[in-house]
Amino acid sequence: MTILDGKKVSNDIKNEIKAEVDAMKANGEKVPHLAAVIVGDDGASLTYVNSKVKSCERVGFESTMIRLPHTTSELELLKKIKELNNNDDIDGFIIQLPLPPQIDTQKVLMAVDPSKDVDGFHPENFGRMALDMSTFIPATPFGILELLERYDVDTKGKHTVVIGRSHIVGRPMSILMSRKGWPGNSTVTLTHSSTKNIAQITTQADIIISALGVPDFVKAEMVRDDAVIIDVGITRVPDENAKRGYVLKGDVDFENVSKKASFITPVPGGVGPMTIAMLLKNTLLAREQRRV
Ligand code: GUN
Repeated sequence: MTILDGKKVSNDIKNEIKAEVDAMKANGEKVPHLAAVIVGDDGASLTYVNSKVKSCERVGFESTMIRLPHTTSELELLKKIKELNNNDDIDGFIIQLPLPPQIDTQKVLMAVDPSKDVDGFHPENFGRMALDMSTFIPATPFGILELLERYDVDTKGKHTVVIGRSHIVGRPMSILMSRKGWPGNSTVTLTHSSTKNIAQITTQADIIISALGVPDFVKAEMVRDDAVIIDVGITRVPDENAKRGYVLKGDVDFENVSKKASFITPVPGGVGPMTIAMLLKNTLLAREQRRV
């Protein structure tokens, strides 16, 4: 069994990005600038956005964090997005999800200039992804592809079962794994809350990608020998013995499933750090595209 070490690979990627930024600086060029908008004060979202901003420093990017109160109206957020679209200094920006209920998420994501949409959530970019055109691939699916590639995991002709159909992970992942090329060329089954007999499907899987957010959902008896296991779940489970008062739990019962798997991602230290590395990669790409 091989651990797909997202912490290590994301570090390698950050070093590669830093080398490119150093070269840009040496050439007297502007360095990439990422902005992140967060509405409200959800603890997990704040942690993610803080990590994104800190990672920008690490690779030499400029970053701006914009915090708006949870009472922000849709119109106010749309105004902020217009400002960011028109600000020539900003190469890419993200709106951290989820948004408060008074705001229509899809309307907001459609207001982002596709050329600055480094999350790849705008329908234009999502459509380009589905059509194999160059685009910003959403960071978490992009990170999973990169892990599979760097560990030389064979995906051609394999049966990939995706658990969860979210717009951020499950849906794009199902499209990407079925694309022509590598990683891809898989036969994909996308499962979700209405799927019947899910264990019957997962036991047929060569590759399982779980993005459900239910701790320990994937049990050893749902997995066949030598399967590749990608765990995207990262749920905060209260634990009074933990320093922060909670522990992070993946969707997979790691202790038992890892005994059967050929490759597996841990939580934390698997897919999570890859998401940030690929957001940086998309921001570098956005800068390069604005340069020409
Ligand atoms: N919320 C959970 N994952 C993500 C992500 O990748 N991007 C944004 N903007 N919000 C998220």
